[in-house]
Amino acid sequence: MIHVSDKLNGNAQSTTISTAGEFTKRPRRLRHSPALRSMVRETTLAPDDFIYPLFVAHGHNVRQPIASMPGVYQLSVDQAVEEARSALALGIPSVLLFGLPASKDPVGEENFADDGIVQQAIRALKAALPDLIVITDVCLCEYTSHGHCGLLNDPEHNHEHLTADYVLNDETLEVLIQVAVSHANAGADIIAPSGMLDGTVCAIRQGLDAHDFALIPIMAYAVKYASAFYGPFREAADGAPKFGDRRTHQMDPANAREAIREAALDVEEGADFIMVKPALAYLDVIHRLHLRFPETPLVAYNVSGEYAMVKAAAANGWLDEQKVVLENLIGMKRAGADLIITYHAKDAATWLRE
Ligand code: PBG
Repeated sequence: MIHVSDKLNGNAQSTTISTAGEFTKRPRRLRHSPALRSMVRETTLAPDDFIYPLFVAHGHNVRQPIASMPGVYQLSVDQAVEEARSALALGIPSVLLFGLPASKDPVGEENFADDGIVQQAIRALKAALPDLIVITDVCLCEYTSHGHCGLLNDPEHNHEHLTADYVLNDETLEVLIQVAVSHANAGADIIAPSGMLDGTVCAIRQGLDAHDFALIPIMAYAVKYASAFYGPFREAADGAPKFGDRRTHQMDPANAREAIREAALDVEEGADFIMVKPALAYLDVIHRLHLRFPETPLVAYNVSGEYAMVKAAAANGWLDEQKVVLENLIGMKRAGADLIITYHAKDAATWLRE
């Protein structure tokens, strides 16, 4: 039994409530002031949790908006430097680079050219902002004329005799090594292979080590699902496959145990970070990897489709953008992510500093 004054009804009389003997168990005691809530908060979010993706294009003074990703642009190198400078000033320590080549071909020659767009961007960023951590996405899809993440088993380039395993694995690894080494030569701090081909981490590690880049870490897209949430990105990076899909190398969204197998292989092959992508529909996978590989920094990729959904709803006045973004991001941290790649990075950092 407990006596409380019936203030809600504007009634000064004392009321008797039966609490069935449970009145000592009141979790709300820790919630009734901002100071208390802050004191018992289990997860924190800070600008240095974020990795900010940048799409780099040829030209000068280019800021080309991406329709399905409001607030995200294809940037020429000079503009990418300014974008990275403002991110760094907000406390975001790192960027992840994607390149839009001048032209495409079946192998993707610009991907490993010394004067390729990403190589130019790395040099400019490191010269202007030596403290910035420059991470580079290593994949073929933005550079190949067919839009696939690897070389194709299609010598005639007519797509007529394709077998089920038409994305060649080990032949592609040779190209990925060249790309990684060329990024490292240009001054990249971390190499992030995103293609989901078998043996990628091992191949790139050996390639880097053989070229005196033993100290360059690999951030492995260890668990990357064949997801429809990459739709807007494929507009941003112009990397959609011209035919077929990526289901022979990216993971089936139905699988979580297989994610552990993928991550275990990457860790064994020498991955310094492991990643789960996308994030929101895969928080259980993030959590499993967090429990299984507590010693390896875990990255969540808050992908383009997740960004686009929030931006579209917010633009319609259907969601409070700031609150929803921070809730999504803290959810990824709570699931176990140490770092988050997100297009919201600058906005979120700004809100966190307010
Ligand atoms: C491949 C790559 C993709 C993304 C990052 N790296 C696209 C794909 O696999 O089709 C998607 C990122 C996003 O959606 O934000 N280079």
